[in-house]
Amino acid sequence: MSAAGPPQGASCAPSGGSAAATAASVGGTHPLKFASPLLDEATIAAAGDVLRSGHIASGIFVERFEAALSEFCEGRPVRVLTSATAAVEVALQLADIGPGDEVITCGQSFFTVLNMIVRARATPVFVDCDLVTRNIDLAAVEARIGPRTRAIIPTHWPGSLGDLDALYALARRNALRVIEDAALVIGSRFNGRPVGAFGDLVTFSFHPNKNMTTIEGGAIVCNDPDEARRLEVLRFHGIERLPDGTRDVAVPGGKFNLPDVNARIGIEQLARLPGFLAHRRALVDRYFERFATKPACVLPPRAADGDGQSWNMWSVLLPLREMRVTRKAFRDALAARGIATGVSYEALHLSTLGRRFGYQRGDLPNTERIAECTVTLPLHAAMTLADVDRVCAACAEVLAESGR
Ligand SMILES: Cc1ncc(COP(=O)(O)O)c(C=O)c1O
Repeated sequence: MSAAGPPQGASCAPSGGSAAATAASVGGTHPLKFASPLLDEATIAAAGDVLRSGHIASGIFVERFEAALSEFCEGRPVRVLTSATAAVEVALQLADIGPGDEVITCGQSFFTVLNMIVRARATPVFVDCDLVTRNIDLAAVEARIGPRTRAIIPTHWPGSLGDLDALYALARRNALRVIEDAALVIGSRFNGRPVGAFGDLVTFSFHPNKNMTTIEGGAIVCNDPDEARRLEVLRFHGIERLPDGTRDVAVPGGKFNLPDVNARIGIEQLARLPGFLAHRRALVDRYFERFATKPACVLPPRAADGDGQSWNMWSVLLPLREMRVTRKAFRDALAARGIATGVSYEALHLSTLGRRFGYQRGDLPNTERIAECTVTLPLHAAMTLADVDRVCAACAEVLAESGR
């Protein structure tokens, strides 16, 4: 465990528990969140220094955080914003997406993608994903490209980046912009290079559930200094400064600038990211070793060591047809054991907003099966291996009780 890793690292020793042992006998009964940030005292002190300085709006620490992120992305320009949702909204503006345009995206993603396409007054075109990796189906993307298609928004999944070479080849062939929703995968690598170091527009999230946090926050990696300048205008009221010291607005911008306090936290978190990712990886390896239920769940893809994948979430698909209880009852049973879980994600095309675009049940079978059966189990940098053992034991216990 690196020094940047969690202080609990020392207690990561195997508990010796097996999945068949009772959850309470494995790793205790303390409440276990399904996601949680890890903010150490040095980070809290650094944020305190900014608060005491009186310069708390966007300033020098935003510039330093952007420089550090840019270095992380092999020199590409990066600008930070108040969330990844703001980043997707501004990315759509940067790509000039508007009324009459179609944007192809995956039905299996967070509401951000649907909402921001609709707020840009464009039309979302949903396609399906792979059942196990959850990556967007590129053949389905190709089949849905039409005269009004302007962009593709793929959401990248923890543990299993899709074929980004094929994605960009497809985009180039059809003159489409790409906005990579990389909210979940800062730190993942493709062909040895970090996500964000190549490609078109790439958005990250620094929400507390993500691999690193700024409390709330997000970023866009863009293509060149001109695009970065447009981005700066769009994230701050559309304001442009004139030579005579006055200001003008030509395009309606938003108010998405990240404060310095958050940026200061981001600088500390980015420095600790390799340690966080290594610890998450150890926890995921443990899940793969210990997670065994009857009936069996569909597990995420287990890639080889050194594959460059980051793990923000570990989600399984419940064998609902072989269970006597619903997913809600399964989650409640875990909650009763002090273990919080999540649902990532509902099917976007079947939301009330998504259905307005003509979608119905049956359109995207894998997306819908994931939406019905998925459960996200606890995974975060403040957890221990004993916590994973406890979750595995609890899942085995609950599924054994509820199997048909
Ligand atoms: C896949 C995905 N994209 C985008 C977002 C939006 O991130 P933010 O909360 O920073 O706006 C989230 C948030 O959970 C997400 O899971």
